[in-house]
Amino acid sequence: MLVAEVPNIGPELLVVHAAISRGMKVAEEHGRRFSREDYPDAATRAGFISYVRTFVSVLHEHHLLEEELAFPRLQEKFPDAPYDLLLDQHKVIVGILDEVGAALEGVAADTRPGESLNGLTDGLSRLAVLWHPHIQIEQEHFTVEQAAARLSADEQIEWSRLFMEYSQQHASPDYLVLPFMLYNLPPAERSIFAGMLPPIVTEQLVPMAWREQWEPMRPFLLI
Ligand SMILES: [Fe+2]
Ligand SMILES: [Fe+2]
Repeated sequence: MLVAEVPNIGPELLVVHAAISRGMKVAEEHGRRFSREDYPDAATRAGFISYVRTFVSVLHEHHLLEEELAFPRLQEKFPDAPYDLLLDQHKVIVGILDEVGAALEGVAADTRPGESLNGLTDGLSRLAVLWHPHIQIEQEHFTVEQAAARLSADEQIEWSRLFMEYSQQHASPDYLVLPFMLYNLPPAERSIFAGMLPPIVTEQLVPMAWREQWEPMRPFLLI
């Protein structure tokens, strides 16, 4: 079940994971295509670099949020989750994510696709192997049903607000991160993520004030 009738952090975790998972897959698929066929034009190349850079920022921030804010709180309510294992997995994932970030800077410095793109896609592929079992563990423990049973509605609202505030402070730049999250999600999941944001973000900033900045990522987004 994805949509909860009362406030619930379970669907929020699912949609954040879903946006990151799509970003990882899209970055790898397009990276492999550009390595084979070259970029169709300079604008697509710039948009791709921006998209992957934003993905790296989002995933780093997701780990920080879980480690600094979410897990210490969840530990009280979900003492049976394997936090040591999850934190060990984060360390390995972050190591590969740093390699992906370094490879991306190689791609950005290289006007022709080649070894740097292959390094990037190899890193993304190794990341995916670790990421999917990792989020499966989180999603099996922090389910909608368990969150509803173990947290009051007030706690769900408070935690959700704290998590979103933390994300907004740490994920940057917001004019790329928030469109990245929204438009890596299909409509039903997008509306769950949009519900976590102040209305000004979805009604004014993303469609108007920030549009020119995120527009180059459009070929890789669900829009
Ligand atoms: Fe995690
Ligand atoms: Fe997670």
